Amino acid sequence: MSLSVENLRIAYRTLRGDVQAVDGVTFAVADREIMGLAGESGCGKSTLGNSLIFIEGRMKHVGGTVELDGKALPISDDRAMNHHRMRDVSIIPQYAMSALNPTKKVGTLAHDLLKSRGMKLAKVLPEFRRRVALVGLPENVLEMYPFELSGGMRQRATMVISTLLNPSLLIADEVTSALDVSNQRAVGELLTEFRDLGYVKSMIVITHDLSILAQIADTIMVMYAGKLTEKASASTMIDKPLHPYTQALLSSLPEVGVRYEDRELTGIPGRPPSLLSPPPGCRFRERCPFAYDKCVEDPPFMELLPGHQVACWKAADDVAGGAGREHNEASATPSGGAGDASPERGPSLGARAGKGAE
Ligand SMILES: Nc1ncnc2c1ncn2[C@@H]1O[C@H](COP(=O)(O)OP(=O)(O)OP(=O)(O)O)[C@@H](O)[C@H]1O
Ligand code: SF4
Ligand SMILES: [Mg+2]
Repeated sequence: MSLSVENLRIAYRTLRGDVQAVDGVTFAVADREIMGLAGESGCGKSTLGNSLIFIEGRMKHVGGTVELDGKALPISDDRAMNHHRMRDVSIIPQYAMSALNPTKKVGTLAHDLLKSRGMKLAKVLPEFRRRVALVGLPENVLEMYPFELSGGMRQRATMVISTLLNPSLLIADEVTSALDVSNQRAVGELLTEFRDLGYVKSMIVITHDLSILAQIADTIMVMYAGKLTEKASASTMIDKPLHPYTQALLSSLPEVGVRYEDRELTGIPGRPPSLLSPPPGCRFRERCPFAYDKCVEDPPFMELLPGHQVACWKAADDVAGGAGREHNEASATPSGGAGDASPERGPSLGARAGKGAE
């Protein structure tokens, strides 16, 4: 197992109190697994990803543990973490593309980053050049300034630099968000290629875009208001999600070729709760069409079916009541029914924005 996270809690100190951005999350990422992490804006995706490599000033490690390759990762000890950054765990932060210093050439940026890890660029230069060619960047990219590169080229450059030391875990935060569809696809394919080539062992790919995850992720995990709501294989999450929030997220995606008049996009009514003082019970309760009396209690993140974890009382009841059996049978036969846990959602995500563009 590459990564094992146990009851992790991360907060931000603010003048109005602590924002509980990651509130008791437990999950694992297997060797060679590309895990997509999805959820609405502000649900804690970046905080979770960032906390695995750098707990910055306002962030607070409230509790929980992280293990990488069977060894504890000292996430709250900035100095001790220095040894692990880039070597064991690396990140392409959200907005990295626009944050590249415009006054420094790509080679200087790579040199500075490696120096901060006690490494010399010269030592890894042959491999750097090999990877630059592999991702289709010009040979002289090290001599270029970031503003001379297109968005897609900049993103490929950040991917090469952040994985130069073959980390065990790469966290890629919204790496496709600012790109057009063809560059999104190219960067997505490169992520899987980097895994296949062994440049990284496993990955957490954070994105709003479920259609990208449908193409590249082995598993998808969904967060809502600082907590985990569901994790399963990508195909199960797309075609047979059990959590009402995942179902609502998928219903809010457009389908290529379907006119608005024929199928109105529903969106998700309401807003996530404040993370300053989140309400007790299920955090999706105020927006959930299936909420019932039991939902005033906090649903645990339970493995309801093999490899399928869900935090929802209704899903647990459905699975216990037989929908899970239907779900299993349906998963085994692609044309099978979804069971009553899945509202009608139209065709699978392959027909939606990402793959529909093929
Ligand atoms: N520096 C900060 N100080 C205080 N609160 C913060 C800070 N950064 C994030 N937050 C809060 O923490 C919560 C989680 O934010 P986070 O950026 O992790 O969400 P996200 O899921 O990555 O959102 P997005 O999809 O918009 O990138 C939000 O409520 C956000 O307002
Ligand atoms: S626990 Fe209840 S409120 Fe929460 S998602 Fe499930 S049914 Fe809806
Ligand atoms: Mg984010």
